[in-house]
Amino acid sequence: MSITSLGEGHTGPARPKVTTLTIQEKKQRHEPITCLTAYDYATSRLVDQAGIDMILVGDSLAQVVLGYENTLPVSMEEMLHHTRAVRRGVKSAMVIADMPFGAYHDDLKEGVRNALRFVKDAGAEAVKVEGGQKRAELIRRLLDAEIPVMGHIGLTPQSVHKMGGFKVQGKDLSGVEQLMKDAVALDRAGVFCMVLEGVPREVGAMITREVAAPTIGIGAGPDCDGQVLVFHDILNLTFAPPAKFVRRYGDAAALISNAVLQFKADVEAGSYPSDEESYHLPRETKASLDAILARKQMKAVSR
Ligand code: KIV
Repeated sequence: MSITSLGEGHTGPARPKVTTLTIQEKKQRHEPITCLTAYDYATSRLVDQAGIDMILVGDSLAQVVLGYENTLPVSMEEMLHHTRAVRRGVKSAMVIADMPFGAYHDDLKEGVRNALRFVKDAGAEAVKVEGGQKRAELIRRLLDAEIPVMGHIGLTPQSVHKMGGFKVQGKDLSGVEQLMKDAVALDRAGVFCMVLEGVPREVGAMITREVAAPTIGIGAGPDCDGQVLVFHDILNLTFAPPAKFVRRYGDAAALISNAVLQFKADVEAGSYPSDEESYHLPRETKASLDAILARKQMKAVSR
């Protein structure tokens, strides 16, 4: 697909539907896997049209769209609402919904029920859960319910308070050992891929070699099987200094600000809308209306 064709309708050349099998085959063929977050119809449609493999409706929604300080407050209802919008925008990429904090932490059955809602009510094709060994049983139950699972270990933002902040994980030997145990536990439980977030490059590489499931890195170095970034990070829409691993590919903040300032200036100067940007009466209606107005004016003058 050419870059110039992006955004021009929803009917470009179809690419095959991406599934869990596509993702696993990409690892076997050593083809890099691409994943971006998206949270709404318009942006998910563009991400899909660009040929990205997986779209994650991340709980980063809480911060980048809803303005919360961290990911903890976002609710099931909010995540479902945005997953539905993304579903409507996407044809080929795999759509994965992030299980929000509290949706799977208390009770395994509740975790499965919530995951079923993402698939049944919102059209997700998989869910993501944060955590390693301790999530193995939940992951097995989700697979029993026919729901593919993306794992997520390392810097898991839902554990921000337990971690004492957003800190790179696996920097000492016991941390590395724990991460390796977590990765192996997810692999054995049957995740179709796992996110490695905020871990040293060496650890990302070691886990990637060790596990069968594809690893999708974010701040985990270039040796993972794929990479994921937050849509708003790559487009300068977060109003905060970027993390070390973020690469900015565009400045949507500048683009939007300039457009809004230009609109304001045009309205205030009276140059928007122009005659070309206005609707007009059909010629016959205009002629009849002009005649009525002229008669009215003549009557008024003769009084
Ligand atoms: O919520 C999110 O955006 C994520 C990605 C950063 C992996 O979990």
